[in-house]
Amino acid sequence: MNLAPLQFGSVKIEWPVVLAPMAGYTDSAMRTLCLEQGAGAVYTELTSAEGIRRDSEKTFQVLDAAKGEHPIAGHLFGRDPEAMAEAAKHVEQSGVFDWVDINCGCPVKKVVSRGAGAALLKDLDHMAKIIAAVRAAVSLPVSVKTRIGFNQDSADHLEIAKVVEGSGADMIAVHARLAKNFHGGDPDWEKLGEMKAALKIPIIGNGGVLEPADAERMVAASGVDGVMIGRGAIGNPWIFERVKSVPPASSGPRSPLEAGGTSLGERRAMMAEHLRRLVELNELKRKASSRPVKYSPEEAACIQFRTHIPYYVKGLFDKKQLLMKLVHLLTVDAIMEEVDILTEKNDDGRT
Ligand SMILES: Cc1cc2nc3c(=O)[nH]c(=O)nc-3n(C[C@H](O)[C@H](O)[C@H](O)COP(=O)(O)O)c2cc1C
Repeated sequence: MNLAPLQFGSVKIEWPVVLAPMAGYTDSAMRTLCLEQGAGAVYTELTSAEGIRRDSEKTFQVLDAAKGEHPIAGHLFGRDPEAMAEAAKHVEQSGVFDWVDINCGCPVKKVVSRGAGAALLKDLDHMAKIIAAVRAAVSLPVSVKTRIGFNQDSADHLEIAKVVEGSGADMIAVHARLAKNFHGGDPDWEKLGEMKAALKIPIIGNGGVLEPADAERMVAASGVDGVMIGRGAIGNPWIFERVKSVPPASSGPRSPLEAGGTSLGERRAMMAEHLRRLVELNELKRKASSRPVKYSPEEAACIQFRTHIPYYVKGLFDKKQLLMKLVHLLTVDAIMEEVDILTEKNDDGRT
């Protein structure tokens, strides 16, 4: 599949197939693995502008974890334009990030109840103020991650596109579902095409790219300048390179063992490396923190890794049973031992 490099301001994404921000997943461990496996760019997890203002240690940790990962966006949410501008300045001054991204699409209660994220889709005037305030505060490029609308009665995708571009954003990434639908239902890639036609700034399409061939289909349907992958990359960092190299004809139905075309051996090695990076990340956080903590870095890493494992072994095991087995395991050795027992049962001798 061919995609031209995507440029906005000083940011150039050579291969514009990028990792979506996913709270609870896309920490530095997952981001670095995806970058190494061909992701064109990454975003931090969702970071509260108010949190940065309050100097919250935890908030800083989300942002500060990023070192040497490029290109990377500092992904911010908030309601107050002034706090968002301040947070954007912090992102810029840290010297770690290539651009600032504003979340205008998160539908979770914690965010929407504060009037931020997807709530901004019901108040485009306010959304415009936030984007303009961030734009004025930094010289880094600014992007917006949003949706095609909040619900059927709110502003539509074209109004959203107009406001985002008119407020000074340099790029827009759009999840092709209404916020009220969370992740359910088919994404509406046609609307991405209509936004592309209406916009001068580049647009990255998002939503429903679970297989390499889906990326091709999205681009063919919409003409977007880039593709953003979320759930399809969990436990499957290989997907970014595969979008480039796997012809659509070969991406038909597969046996569970070949899901993603990755051998069990490769998957086991990636799991071990992912876990190792999580331990390292937690050790770094521990050193930087003065707070009392309940779990050791290794235990914290094992807990964080639990939700990734079912994706790495997708199709091979009953997810519920697997999670029940893993829930008590708090050492890397115990987890990898369990992974080995499980994968040996399914090994077809190729790995
Ligand atoms: C567990 C999870 C966490 C997410 N967290 C965020 C987030 O922090 N910020 C955001 O803009 N979108 C977030 N999203 C939405 C994704 O970025 C993406 O828009 C969505 O999953 C659709 O893409 P996909 O079909 O490729 O998964 C999250 C999605 C999931 C599944």
